[in-house]
Amino acid sequence: MTVITNIDDLKRLYRRRAPKMFYDYCESGSWTEQTFRENVSDFDAIRLRQRVAVDMSNRTTKTQMIGQDVAMPVALAPVGMTGMQSADGEIKAARAAEKFGVPFTLSTMSICSIEDVAEHTTAPFWFQLYVMRDEDYLSRLIQRTKDAGCSALVITLDLQIMGQRHKDIRNGLSAPPKPTVRNLVNLSTKWRWGMGMLGTKRRSFGNVVGHVKGISDPSKLMSWTNDQFDPSLDWSKIEKIKEMWGGPLILKGVMEAEDAVMAAKVGADAIIVSNHGGRQLDGALSSIRALDPILQAVGDRIEVHLDSGIRSGQDVLKAMAMGAKGTYIGRAFVYGLGAMGEAGVTRALEVIHKELDTSMAFCGHRDINQVDRDILRIPRDFSGDWA
Ligand code: GLV
Repeated sequence: MTVITNIDDLKRLYRRRAPKMFYDYCESGSWTEQTFRENVSDFDAIRLRQRVAVDMSNRTTKTQMIGQDVAMPVALAPVGMTGMQSADGEIKAARAAEKFGVPFTLSTMSICSIEDVAEHTTAPFWFQLYVMRDEDYLSRLIQRTKDAGCSALVITLDLQIMGQRHKDIRNGLSAPPKPTVRNLVNLSTKWRWGMGMLGTKRRSFGNVVGHVKGISDPSKLMSWTNDQFDPSLDWSKIEKIKEMWGGPLILKGVMEAEDAVMAAKVGADAIIVSNHGGRQLDGALSSIRALDPILQAVGDRIEVHLDSGIRSGQDVLKAMAMGAKGTYIGRAFVYGLGAMGEAGVTRALEVIHKELDTSMAFCGHRDINQVDRDILRIPRDFSGDWA
């Protein structure tokens, strides 16, 4: 049996087991991938202060995100096409999150539908919304989210149009994959994946197919996005959606203090400092570098969460110590899912939890809620002295 010691072990196994097209979809940033790379490498620039002779017994990583209890401050991020990484992937990931006691966020672009996930889980999950041009579809989608008992709505603000990921174009990314010679050759080596897919009916965008009129090819993420996503999304529309939803609201994709101030003004409960995992604006700062100015601007008014770049419990600890109130993992859980299904997502959560718990103890803390900047060494110019 393969021994899994860290998230990279899961990634290696995932690469072997998942179709190339879906591995590439997950493991891509836009254009040069600078932001994608720096999301990870910038965490390394922050160092931790080792403390000694401090009682390390009775530790806890339990806290709250938007007032909801979490076993550790790590939610599963919304990831499109998760059900193509492993059959029924969203259901598997949601179940693993529920058992672990962390939030699961279902993407609008999921393969399993809102209703599918609700039917196969008991804990309320969060729903990530892409704002669509079709207002009728949008209001029905929000109603479906309410009917499923979702406990937060996460509106993604940074994907009104799509960044270009070269590999997706070259691979002809679609869900399900088209039966081209190239795809068939690759799929013939992925028997585990194929067996899973043969055993499920969920092979296209579950929240869309049968719910939206006039899509030319629903299997194509890119054309679907171009056809359906609302490029005119602005703060007034966000306010309208907030009213339609009426529940806890999280705004995802905030990278600048001015936008964070606007998010606080429209009454969001939390923002996620995120550059979409480096998949949208290539050349944007890494999210960990963008965090501090945003905390300074709105940290006393609104919960500030962070995603993009988290691959370890040490990364979670650094973000929390800087002042974030929660973090999200996207790729880190997808690696686990593609490697080992639900058990792999659980393993990813266990790995990150252990790293977080142990590193927190080495820094002289027993309670994640007490951790602050005292444990960090942050380079003086970390947030940048930009003209
Ligand atoms: C969708 O959210 C994507 O980044 O592909």
